[in-house]
Amino acid sequence: MKEKIEILKQQLKDIKIESKDQLEDFRLQYLSKKGKLQDLFADFKTVAKEDKPAVGQMINVLKNQAQDVYNHFKSDISSQDSSSEKEFDLTRPVNFSHIGARHPISLVRKEIIDIFNRIGFVISEGPEVEDDFHVFTALNFPEEHPARDMQDTFFIEKDPDIALRTHTSSVQVRIMESQKPPIRTISPGRVFRNEAISARAHCIFHQVEGLYVDKNVSFADLKQTLLYFAKEMFGEETKIRLRPSYFPFTEPSAEMDVSCNICGGKGCNVCKYTGWLEILGCGMVDPNVLTNCGIDAEEYTGFAFGMGVERIAMLKYQVKDLRLFFENDKRFLDQFSGAY
Ligand code: PHE
Repeated sequence: MKEKIEILKQQLKDIKIESKDQLEDFRLQYLSKKGKLQDLFADFKTVAKEDKPAVGQMINVLKNQAQDVYNHFKSDISSQDSSSEKEFDLTRPVNFSHIGARHPISLVRKEIIDIFNRIGFVISEGPEVEDDFHVFTALNFPEEHPARDMQDTFFIEKDPDIALRTHTSSVQVRIMESQKPPIRTISPGRVFRNEAISARAHCIFHQVEGLYVDKNVSFADLKQTLLYFAKEMFGEETKIRLRPSYFPFTEPSAEMDVSCNICGGKGCNVCKYTGWLEILGCGMVDPNVLTNCGIDAEEYTGFAFGMGVERIAMLKYQVKDLRLFFENDKRFLDQFSGAY
């Protein structure tokens, strides 16, 4: 009996199992009810009484050993399994790849565009690399004038100046040069400014600028258009406020605030307890700009406005750090996957 146990013990040590079938064979041969170990337990009855404790212990050790061998090869084989055999399991459901979602900046840009489309503004686009005339000179920034420092510029070439556009007003210059009024257009696009990157500013951002030129366009038209926009964008109860400002290309100029959509105007940390949020610049197109673009400033007037898409998106989605829009962190972007 003891010899038999020793032999089995040796066999277990040398055993190698390489497939599921071999594993099952092993189980049948050693561990099943008709297996070798079970035979030993049957034989045990015939062992002399005084030998029983020692033999019993040997059988138990052997049984554990066999079970260990089985467990060891089982986990070995199932890990091979997941790497090779599963690839060929044709019954497995398909792993759908993630189809992605619109970026929050695209969502907000589209929303702004849709709002103005509904009242007849058409989209115009133009180059990101522009000459000085379209970015500055035509827009009434005199050469060497300090107003040019309002928008820190990335120059590509000096003399003649070629730069990355600092605003999409340059597109509107191109439209006025090539079309006759009435003109009603919005220019969405990327713009570039040489600014330090922070939670509130970036050297690349997106704008939507608008322009309306026709006979008898008045400041009241501007105000009403922007009120309509604010209500569509932030909700029917939204109020607007215009504060006097300065831009070389508009006269008079204003900056527009909307009542804080988070606290409803009562004051909170987003609006810094003022109840108002600044969202855009606007004004009546300076007659010099119309003249520079070949439009008769005696006959026509116009209004213009411009806003940063990131700024609107930050307010809409309560994003506190503008850099998140550019980092492409999936955890951030996935939050917008349901929105269209
Ligand atoms: N172009 C201005 C800017 O980028 C915005 C603006 C557009 C202001 C039209 C007034 C009128 O800051």
